[in-house]
Amino acid sequence: MNNMTRRTSRLPGFYRLGVAQRRQLLVDRGLLDGAHAGALAHPEQGLPEHVADKMIENVIGRFSLPVGVGANFLINGREYLVPMVVEEPSIVAAVSHAANIVRGAGGFWAQADRSITTGQIQVFGLHDLDAAESALLAAREDLLAFANAMQPSMVERGGGAVELEVRRLGTQGPPSRFRPMLAVHIHVDACDAMGANLVNTLVEGLAERVEALTGGTVGLRILTNLADRRRVRAGCRIPFELLRWQEFDGPTVARGVVMASEFAECDPWRATTHNKGILNGVDAVAVATGQDWRAIEAGAHAFASLDGSYRPLALWHIEEDHLVGELDMPMAVGTVGGPIRLHPGVQACLALLDVHSARELACVMGAVGLAQNLAAIKALGSTGIQRGHMALHARSVAATAGARDAEVERVAAEMVRTGNIRLEFARKVLDDLRGPTPSPCA
Ligand code: MEV
Repeated sequence: MNNMTRRTSRLPGFYRLGVAQRRQLLVDRGLLDGAHAGALAHPEQGLPEHVADKMIENVIGRFSLPVGVGANFLINGREYLVPMVVEEPSIVAAVSHAANIVRGAGGFWAQADRSITTGQIQVFGLHDLDAAESALLAAREDLLAFANAMQPSMVERGGGAVELEVRRLGTQGPPSRFRPMLAVHIHVDACDAMGANLVNTLVEGLAERVEALTGGTVGLRILTNLADRRRVRAGCRIPFELLRWQEFDGPTVARGVVMASEFAECDPWRATTHNKGILNGVDAVAVATGQDWRAIEAGAHAFASLDGSYRPLALWHIEEDHLVGELDMPMAVGTVGGPIRLHPGVQACLALLDVHSARELACVMGAVGLAQNLAAIKALGSTGIQRGHMALHARSVAATAGARDAEVERVAAEMVRTGNIRLEFARKVLDDLRGPTPSPCA
């Protein structure tokens, strides 16, 4: 398909359709093929039991979550429909709303680093740290060449080990309770893979040489999830007039967003929740596309606290009559390897997203994180989060109460109208709606 002319991430009225109708619309537009639609529609096709049994150990079944579509995304001039797997109501609606605002302002820009995954080799029991460090640095080219000889296909694809770094630990500051050691870092371009297996193989393979060069003992050999050389930066610049929202004018909404950003900058308690909002979006795409979301989470929080205090991953400020936002965070993602080759549901989500590289996926996830953050702090800095959130939450409470199909909207509407979003009330509304149960004697 010619993306520039036909593909659009605008889906007006999508939310009013039924689940099967939404899927059909994507098929009709050529955004999903029949097999991918089937994988999303039927659990057995989405993740066959025999495949699940190969993914982890002691499998006793499969576990489902909803797949939603984040709409309206325009990133680096390209349209994206973003698959999101998450259990929390309002995340998908909120991100689509924010993406629509940014779309009106020309969309997001995003830029992802080269796919550098870093492996660590711990070396201890050293008599002379200076000598060990010098020996490693002198052998740098040999060690990189040896590493690359272990992964020729990665080198053919333009990746492989690109840099070696030696860090000293346990030697700084006041007398340390730690024994001095070295951490040898091997930086590897994993191309379109997340790179964990590749890097773990390389650092294990290098261990013997590192011991021979340093005279020390190699301990741990494993990647670091603090992927600070594999960051994504995403941003947007929104004119005030696009921010007008309910009873609030654009400048007021913009000031609310900036005050929320400043709150997060000066307070780790708030920064944690601010970042949780960003990760609401990032994680949902990560799960949909088969990423190691624990690695993304660990990297995000470690990066947020690198300077010793926990910081927000996205910041907002005002430039003349525009609200400007920027996100900067590690994003170690892949479009090959992991569950991607095995899991048909993940393949369907990747097909819908239509990204062509890990870096493009990182750009999308960065923009989604920024959009999710904007949606949250725009609401928090103006109307408050509960007004919009409760309307969506009411639907899941209605479903929990036993409402089905059209009943869900009617029960939810009554809960929102009365401001009573409680399960007992939902049950009562549902009973009233269904009328008296016919007597068995009638
Ligand atoms: C809720 O899942 C996420 C928020 O708390 C994020 C935030 O406070 O910025 C709304």
